[in-house]
Amino acid sequence: MSEIEKKVYAQKLTPKMLKKSKLLTNRHQILEHLPKNGVGIEIGVLGGDWSCHLLQITVPSELILADTFNSNDYAHKNRFVKKTHEFYIKTKFETHGDKVKVMKGLSWDTLATFPDHYFDWMYIDAAHDYECVKKDLKEAIRVLKPDGYIIMNDYIMYDHFTKEEYGVVQATNEFMVEHNFEMLFFALHPEMFCDVVIKKIQE
Ligand SMILES: C[S@@+](CC[C@H](N)C(=O)[O-])C[C@H]1O[C@@H](n2cnc3c(N)ncnc32)[C@H](O)[C@@H]1O
Repeated sequence: MSEIEKKVYAQKLTPKMLKKSKLLTNRHQILEHLPKNGVGIEIGVLGGDWSCHLLQITVPSELILADTFNSNDYAHKNRFVKKTHEFYIKTKFETHGDKVKVMKGLSWDTLATFPDHYFDWMYIDAAHDYECVKKDLKEAIRVLKPDGYIIMNDYIMYDHFTKEEYGVVQATNEFMVEHNFEMLFFALHPEMFCDVVIKKIQE
């Protein structure tokens, strides 16, 4: 698919898919709308800051933290270097015992290890290029419960800081069209690295 075709496809969300959409001031508000005591996964955890909020507010029965653990931390935090990334996260969440599982690997490979309809919600925030997001979503549809929620972070086409193209908008919108999903929430971000919450339309 060409770049132009991707953009055209991205515009094909129908009014029905946006009928229930609500605008939120920030992504923290999303957490109040996720089911409590569910099984969740954060795909792309970096320093585990957001993981703490996911844990605290959604009180999951199980939380998977999936990452390649091959990243440097945010420069202003610098809590780990690449080779200690996994160790840092494992140590940070060790008091939660079996409830928090840390899984190292490419996101789509990690998702492929789960049975069908395993997750109540999935927070997707790993690689942001079109092909990688497509691969994440291809696995997500299998492992998500039929009434489960997907939250896509960085729903933006371009990172205006790093000057990188993102494919999150195109891949998400295509996924919504292909699988008959609706957008329930659009959560703003100060620099417009917004989140969207999508769910299969329950006919
Ligand atoms: C933007 S950070 C995640 C931030 C975190 N979700 C938060 O909100 O604080 C992206 C993370 O995804 C990881 N990552 C990137 N591509 C990945 C892939 N294909 N599979 C697994 N993890 C990946 C990186 O190592 C990095 O830690």
